[in-house]
Amino acid sequence: MAAIAQARAVTSSDLWDEDTARRYDDASAGMFTPEVLDPAVDFLARLAGGGPALEFAIGTGRVAVPLAARGVPVAGIELSQPMVDQLRRKASAAEIPVVVGDMATTTVPGEFSLVYLVFNTIGNLRTQDEQVECFRNAARHLAPGGRFVIELWVPGIRRFPPGQAAVPFDVSDRHLGFDTLDMVTQQGTSHHYTHLADGSVRYGASNFRYIWPAECDLMARLAGLVPEQRVADWHGAPFTSESESHVSVWRKPLAAGA
Ligand SMILES: C[S@@+](CC[C@H](N)C(=O)[O-])C[C@H]1O[C@@H](n2cnc3c(N)ncnc32)[C@H](O)[C@@H]1O
Repeated sequence: MAAIAQARAVTSSDLWDEDTARRYDDASAGMFTPEVLDPAVDFLARLAGGGPALEFAIGTGRVAVPLAARGVPVAGIELSQPMVDQLRRKASAAEIPVVVGDMATTTVPGEFSLVYLVFNTIGNLRTQDEQVECFRNAARHLAPGGRFVIELWVPGIRRFPPGQAAVPFDVSDRHLGFDTLDMVTQQGTSHHYTHLADGSVRYGASNFRYIWPAECDLMARLAGLVPEQRVADWHGAPFTSESESHVSVWRKPLAAGA
């Protein structure tokens, strides 16, 4: 594919390095299980409706590879070359073309019936401006009538007792994970302490900006997209005040008079 990369020199996103990329599929093994992946791929294949799809932050191809195997032509944008290198072990550039760049600003040739951004990754852009630009970039790549899909957690603010700055999300023998969130700036960090086989402990952290579903809707509106669907998960469970995540779909309007 003749790629046009327009990546800015600077992005607020953490850059995923070679070590992280090499470990990604094992570390996220739970996200590769058929129970997790199949409903997501079903949902996305249905929305693509036979047209081409573009994945923002395609990573190692967790979703793109099985989606392409369903016959959906898939392309990607990804900031980290090491993540793309891992994807290349599963699919060639002819099968799944990828442009290395920032999903807020990078463009690829073509018009897509579906653009999708999963696994909470909109949060990797850590400024509101960049998140707005990301929605605009999705809209830019959509054909009229095409859809933008986001999978995102609902910020777990309600789990914070007053005065406490951290909330654990995984406490097990092998791994301690907790988030710190700043209620003023909407900045957050996920901290991971992992016990290794040699007895040592590895620390890793990832930074993000959390956003509510309502802020997503406003960003979509700024990008000229209209809301079509919000469900709690890929199975289509209703989104309620208790939901901890959402799958949201916005649509690019058909041209006037079409
Ligand atoms: C949690 S992984 C998700 C990968 C894949 N979508 C999946 O579901 O397995 C987050 C990915 O987002 C990429 N990423 C982070 N910021 C980005 C940006 N500004 N533009 C493009 N990719 C970005 C990271 O390099 C990483 O590959």
